This record gives sequence, structure tokens and C-alpha cells, in this order.
Amino acid sequence: MSEAPKRVRVRHFATAKTEGIRITGLTSYDFLSAGIFDRAGIDFLLIGDSAGNAVFGYDTTVPVAVDELIPLCRGVARAAKRALVVADLPFGSYEGGPDDALRTAVRFMKETGVHAVKLEGGVRSVAQIERLVGAGIPVMGHIGYTPQSEHGLGGHVVQGRGASKDALIRDALAVEAAGAFAVVLEMVPREVAKEVTEALRIPTIGIGAGPDTDGQILVWTDLLGLNTTRIPRFVKQYANLEATLLDSVGKWREDVTKGSFPSDEHSFTDN
Ligand code: KIV
Repeated sequence: MSEAPKRVRVRHFATAKTEGIRITGLTSYDFLSAGIFDRAGIDFLLIGDSAGNAVFGYDTTVPVAVDELIPLCRGVARAAKRALVVADLPFGSYEGGPDDALRTAVRFMKETGVHAVKLEGGVRSVAQIERLVGAGIPVMGHIGYTPQSEHGLGGHVVQGRGASKDALIRDALAVEAAGAFAVVLEMVPREVAKEVTEALRIPTIGIGAGPDTDGQILVWTDLLGLNTTRIPRFVKQYANLEATLLDSVGKWREDVTKGSFPSDEHSFTDN
């Protein structure tokens, strides 16, 4: 997306698709990282339930609770001056039906300052998406590999291969018809992602879906190497923050233990 909008809004997603301008998104879970990504011109920031892995140390996103994501959303929303901020609805907070989804989404909108919500599922989530959109809440869909269904899907498995392609396309069309403003395609063969992108009027945001989607999103701790274990094949690491932190903290520890920190420069005097 161009640098232009003062605040990225849902309508800019539609314009970007029409004009063929790629959309960029990153996850963010805190005020400082959100401020940096916002200043770098990232179009939207997602407080993903990947916080379950990146912040809380769970093995999957399944245990993540609404009350755990709310404070993270507040920090990100306060930092983002330009980016559109999207809150992920965690597992168990919307599957019960449209009323359930509305109750949860309203909490995120009222209590945190986010601008939109994301939820997983295609055809199965249509009623929820319709209810939220009807209430004036912008919704980003999420189909393909949906991490909240990790156990049902049998692990991290590419979706939409072979015969399951038609079901994926049905999911994409259903999310669009329900009123979503964009849809995440996760771990889908690039040819299928291209076909879905061409079939939809709303933008597709890829993660492990090849180069032909209308935008891309990654989990920031993967992108910047704060996490260096279990990196999915679709991630390119642009930094190694783990190495930087290990090295810097190690140096500080050494300075403290040998007495060279704090020096005069970093100490107060009484005059
Ligand atoms: O929770 C998350 O980080 C996500 C992205 C992977 C799209 O849903």
C-alpha cells in the first residue's frame, strides 16, 4: 500500500486490490514493537493469537483467552498512528454462534481501540461474519490452514491441495459474500492462492501462500529471528534478534560481574 493514508482504513484495502498495490501486515503484541512497525509503514498490525506461542509459551493457539489478548491489543492500538489494527478472536470465543462472536468482538472494539477483528473459518463462520459486519465491525477472514483447528487438521498441513481445492475456493467466496474486507490464506499452494486471489474482489493476505496474493503477513518474531526454533519454510528471516540479544545481554552480564558497569558516566553524583 502507498504511504499515503494518514490512517489505513478498510476502504484502502479495497483500493489497494483495485490498483494492484501490495498490502503488508505483521503480528504485534506490544506497544514498542507496534510503534516501530507502524513507523516502518506496515499497513496493518494483527494482535494474533500466535501470542499463545510468542508471548505466553503455549504449544498451540488453542488455550489463548480473550482476557490475555485484551491488554496486548491496548498496547498495540495506542502505538499505531497509521496502521489498521486487527484483533484475533481466540478459539472458543466465537464458534458458539453469531451472538457469541458479537459479544467477543464488541469487547475488543470497546475495551482496546482496535479497528477490526479476524476470525478463522470459511463456510462454517459465515453467520458470525455476517453478524459482526451487520453491527459495523470490520472482519478479516482466515482460511486454509487455521491454527486453532490444528488438532482437527492433523498438524501443520498445507490446505487446498488436490481435491480439497474446491472446498477452499468455496470458503473464500463464502467469506467474501458474508462481508469480510480481506481474507488471510495460510499454507495454501501458490497456484491455488493465485486462483482464489483472482476469483475474489476483496484482497487476499498470504502467509505461506506464495507470491500472488494481494498482500503478505508474517509473525514478527519469526521474521526478525527472535524465534529461531521451528521456523516454517515460508518464513524468510531478515534479522537474528535472538543472537543480538544473547550477545548484548552476555556483554552486560560480563561488565556487571567484573565491575566495569556502571561507570561514572552511568552514575549520579550528589552535586
Ligand atoms: O495469529 C496469527 O499470528 C495469525 C497469523 C499467522 C495470520 O493468525
